[in-house]
Amino acid sequence: MYRNHTCGELRISDAGKTVTLAGWVQRSRKLGGMTFIDLRDRYGITQLVVEADAPAQLVEKVAALGREFVIQATGEVVERSSKNPKIPTGDIEIRLNEVNVLNESLTPPFTIEDNTDGGEDIRAKYRYLDLRRNPLQKALKLRHRICHEVRNYLDSNDFLEIETPFLINSTPEGARDFVVPSRMNPGTFYALPQSPQTLKQSLMVAGMDRYFQIVKCFRDEDLRADRQPEFTQIDCEMSFVEQEDVLGMFEGMMRHLFKSILDIDIPNPIPRMTWFDGMDKYGSDKPDIRYGMLLHEITPLAQGHGFGVFDGVPYVGAIAVPGAAAYTRKQTDELTDWVKRPQVGAKGLVYIKLNEDGSFKSSVDKFFSPEDLLKIAGAVEASRGDLVLVLCGEKRRTQTQLGQLRIELGNRMGLRRSDVFAPLWLTDFPLFEWNDEENKWDALHHPFTAPKPEHLQYYYSDKPEDILKVCANAYDFVLNGTELGGGSIRIHNPKDQARMFEIIGIGPEEMQRKFGFLINAFKYGAPPHGGLAFGLDRVCALFGGSDTIRDYIAFPKNNQGKDIMLGAPSVIDRKQLDELFLDLRPVKE
Ligand code: AMO
Repeated sequence: MYRNHTCGELRISDAGKTVTLAGWVQRSRKLGGMTFIDLRDRYGITQLVVEADAPAQLVEKVAALGREFVIQATGEVVERSSKNPKIPTGDIEIRLNEVNVLNESLTPPFTIEDNTDGGEDIRAKYRYLDLRRNPLQKALKLRHRICHEVRNYLDSNDFLEIETPFLINSTPEGARDFVVPSRMNPGTFYALPQSPQTLKQSLMVAGMDRYFQIVKCFRDEDLRADRQPEFTQIDCEMSFVEQEDVLGMFEGMMRHLFKSILDIDIPNPIPRMTWFDGMDKYGSDKPDIRYGMLLHEITPLAQGHGFGVFDGVPYVGAIAVPGAAAYTRKQTDELTDWVKRPQVGAKGLVYIKLNEDGSFKSSVDKFFSPEDLLKIAGAVEASRGDLVLVLCGEKRRTQTQLGQLRIELGNRMGLRRSDVFAPLWLTDFPLFEWNDEENKWDALHHPFTAPKPEHLQYYYSDKPEDILKVCANAYDFVLNGTELGGGSIRIHNPKDQARMFEIIGIGPEEMQRKFGFLINAFKYGAPPHGGLAFGLDRVCALFGGSDTIRDYIAFPKNNQGKDIMLGAPSVIDRKQLDELFLDLRPVKE
């Protein structure tokens, strides 16, 4: 037996016991004639001490221990003279009488402590060392507990956990596929699932009634703090349900997670907002409702004053930034530069300061009288001391820009606290969006999402203005400005499904090739069904109070989609290419 206790469990009540621990040497220091060692394992840190009068052989052995050596240590639990209230084992130490080196270690390339000195790349290369650090250990424990509670909840609600294959063909989530060449079928490729969407719907046709899976999904898309090329979904589907049934079930799951993991009671019921309100009031399809600073349309008030920038556009909108009238010229210039960055893309920013004394100062004083500005301030619900920021242009684009500005200001003003949780269901999405580049309609969610039953007459209309009116029977779960999950009630009859493909320009041949199996399945008695998927990595990060999902994934990819530790992706040799019947074109730098 290597150990009879862990490094996190001994307390003052254990004083007098002789124990054996095993773990890594985090730190060793000499004080007077004594040597102190912090011994670490997954459960905590325990201090070991070798007295000045210990046998010379033991003193020598301990002196030779380096950082991250793996040792087995035996000794007596004694009360510490100087206690460490910061750690649970801080009242005791182990007075050593034997040490065994189980394995030596090279000096690690960075310190393995809460605040490490290692940069991102070096830590990624030595991920197994980074994972020894407390914050990452805590993150993976949190992930484990969340998965465990998800399974508890779904199992107690009769969901079956069913695995689906990874080597499949293209799935319709709108990203690029990762593909895998087939050796046995030369010239053909598998695509890795962007989600198990079509398979879980097939499981409903198969009568499984309630399915879930904690499953890897693969999407070749640009990466961000909350996006990885392979990520994990809590993927669910239910039969004989309407939207209310699905929202109720998963509201219950989120309530269970918040209570069991964080001991937080979230609002009951969780508030709901339509997609249209999200865009009009928050400039976002994932509104952060932790704070105000809402968008207001001021088009009629802004136009007809001779200011050409406002007069020629379909939409003028504004937000009121509380207490920011005191911003200097330098600060407003900096905000103007911020909205002009390509990531936001506004042409300029108009400001109106409502000074504390009731006077105004604006960048459009030439065109607007104080009375005009007062009307605008009223419409934007600005008070004295506030700064009104105005953007204009095409409606949804301008709203999105105002939404980005609102989030940026929320960050700068400390309004987006990670310990405040504001969940929200977003509903009533448009079913279609116009794709300017390809000059066609796209499904905003995926092409299996059903139209709202009351919008079927628009769904079958040929007029573009009617197509725009069709709302989807879809919903997103939004938390603190992040889309945590999304789903929909599905189309379950072949006629509506064929119409969907007709609108988004997928012809019968392509439809058969890509999704023929599902369309056929629908001909054999598909039950009404619907579901959703949560992004597990995002759930973990938000529960852990972080913006980046990478810390909650044991072996994540970096921003270039690379795993530096594994050296993936990598070149493959000629023999492998030959076996796969593949030739490579030279890579252009
Ligand atoms: P959707 O594409 O909205 O829906 O994905 C569901 C959830 O998965 C998470 N997510 C991601 N997390 C990390 N990295 C990514 N690249 C990434 N992409 C998505 C998000 C998102 O809300 N089949 C449908 C679900 C359904 O209709 O049932 C789907 O995949 O948290």
